[in-house]
Amino acid sequence: MRKQPVGIFDSGVGGLTVFKEIRKSFPYEDIVYFGDTARVPYGPKSSNTVIEYSIQNARFLLQCGAKIIVIACNTSSAIALETLKKTLPVPVIGVIEPGAISASQSTKNGRIGVIGTDGTIRSRAYHEAISKINNNIEIFSKACPLFVSIVEEGWENHSVAKIIIEEYLSSLLKKNIDTLVLGCTHYPILKQAIKEVIGSHIALIDSAEAVTNELRKILPQPEASIEGSDKFYVSDNEDKFRQIASRILGKDTESLVKVKLGESWYIT
Ligand code: DGL
Repeated sequence: MRKQPVGIFDSGVGGLTVFKEIRKSFPYEDIVYFGDTARVPYGPKSSNTVIEYSIQNARFLLQCGAKIIVIACNTSSAIALETLKKTLPVPVIGVIEPGAISASQSTKNGRIGVIGTDGTIRSRAYHEAISKINNNIEIFSKACPLFVSIVEEGWENHSVAKIIIEEYLSSLLKKNIDTLVLGCTHYPILKQAIKEVIGSHIALIDSAEAVTNELRKILPQPEASIEGSDKFYVSDNEDKFRQIASRILGKDTESLVKVKLGESWYIT
């Protein structure tokens, strides 16, 4: 099992927040990351389209030899997890359930806010996952589609970020929530700015962090051995990916390769 990589996919570059956490917790694993930069964003797309893209992305990772697939994208996790679990020959982990578990453990007053893309919020996947754990928890959600653009522009410390965060979160703040789930790959990058707007009394749940707990249940921790390797694939715009990736990871994505979308994937 050790020789095969962990496969991670996302609609684009945001899933590197999940990659970063997994790399930190599993230094000896080889990891293959695929970002579907040709077709991002998934947030506003229909469920059928998100499922179709997710299947293609997962198949590509299987071709790379993945022994397990992590769906870093919240929108894909919310909409396509069950289909992938049923159809793929390897374990599949999404980010929704781990985030829901962390949020349920965090709340003291039983009032949780969830933010994400339109697709994630529309799917009510966090509602279902949290209610399954504790039916008495009240959940309040809000789609915050512009957060993705703020991060992709590199404006997380810009005054415009604060204004948009205030605008989106004002209705949630009136609900007396004590926990807020950052239900989108990009939102952990806005953590500091969100904290400044909502204050420190509301706990922020980072599903990128939460997913490593889930992975630990499946992946044995190997004895110290050689460091794992990283491979990055995208379907378009390598330069933009590289640029945002260096901000998220704090280092260059050296082995970055563009692959062509299609029935059978190939490297261009
Ligand atoms: N990766 C997506 C998510 O976590 C955000 C970007 C998109 O809309 O594709 O939901």
